[in-house]
Amino acid sequence: RTPIILDTDPGIDDAVAIAAALFAPQLDLKLLTTVAGNVSVEKTTRNALQLMHFWRKDIPVAQGAATPLVRKLRDAAYVHGESGMEGYAFVDHQRQPLDKPAFQAIYECLLQSTEAITLVAIGPLTNIALLLTQYPDCKAKIKRLVIMGGSAGRGNFTPNAEFNIAIDPEAAARVFESGLEIVMCGLDVTNQALLSPKYLATLSELNQTGKMLHALFSHYRSGSMATGLRMHDLCAIAWLVKPELFRTQPCFVAVETRGEFTAGTTVVDIEERYQREPNAQVALDLDVEGFQAWVAEVLALAP
Ligand code: BDR
Ligand code: CA
Repeated sequence: RTPIILDTDPGIDDAVAIAAALFAPQLDLKLLTTVAGNVSVEKTTRNALQLMHFWRKDIPVAQGAATPLVRKLRDAAYVHGESGMEGYAFVDHQRQPLDKPAFQAIYECLLQSTEAITLVAIGPLTNIALLLTQYPDCKAKIKRLVIMGGSAGRGNFTPNAEFNIAIDPEAAARVFESGLEIVMCGLDVTNQALLSPKYLATLSELNQTGKMLHALFSHYRSGSMATGLRMHDLCAIAWLVKPELFRTQPCFVAVETRGEFTAGTTVVDIEERYQREPNAQVALDLDVEGFQAWVAEVLALAP
């Protein structure tokens, strides 16, 4: 099983990615870390703990950065609801995060492991940037970094920028310049990663997890269940388990941090115009049917 650490801002599509990280038999989830993004970090941490409680799992949760490196947080409560996971009445619990910040928890988890670990980041890249700055030697223990973020084309937050990168462009730039082996699952593939209305309608009958997700989905993007839902974050997990579903290309990717209208844009040099060494494997196309079949398979394994 591939050992992974998942950095997340749950977040409704994050919740689905967490489910897949827990129940895909090929993966071994070691640590969950939270970051401010879709909502505040207090809320994303609360949501992560709530999910662990829902699934009766004891994966440690460490709370991460409350704000982007230099900018103010602009959240996405308009998409995920006030709490970040609006729509399901989770039961109360006493669970607490670890008493250390996410970047430190990640570092210690890396050190403790005998093998290199895959990092998966499905929120803004603040914690990963902090990790790289505070503990530069961490790179030796990171097998690769798989991110949901960016776009080779248009954005979903500004005309050109995808949300996770747009929220903390400085962090993203640091990460893309780090020399880590990066797999970028951006909007080019995640916009294709639709769950069909037909499948969504069956979810509440599937199991308790399906019921919970169905309730969350009814709020997600003001309830666009009838048109299908995009599972952005789930693509990063899908790539780990079924890379053959993706067409990827090694590319040089730069993150714009200064442009008045373009900050947070990932400039993906598909045609090699800059003649620079590729720094990421960029996913550009998805086998949608294969993806949907895998999602159905993995969610059926959940309780
Ligand atoms: C990304 O933005 C967030 O709202 C989602 O959880 C996902 O990580 C998609 O652009
Ligand atoms: Ca997310």
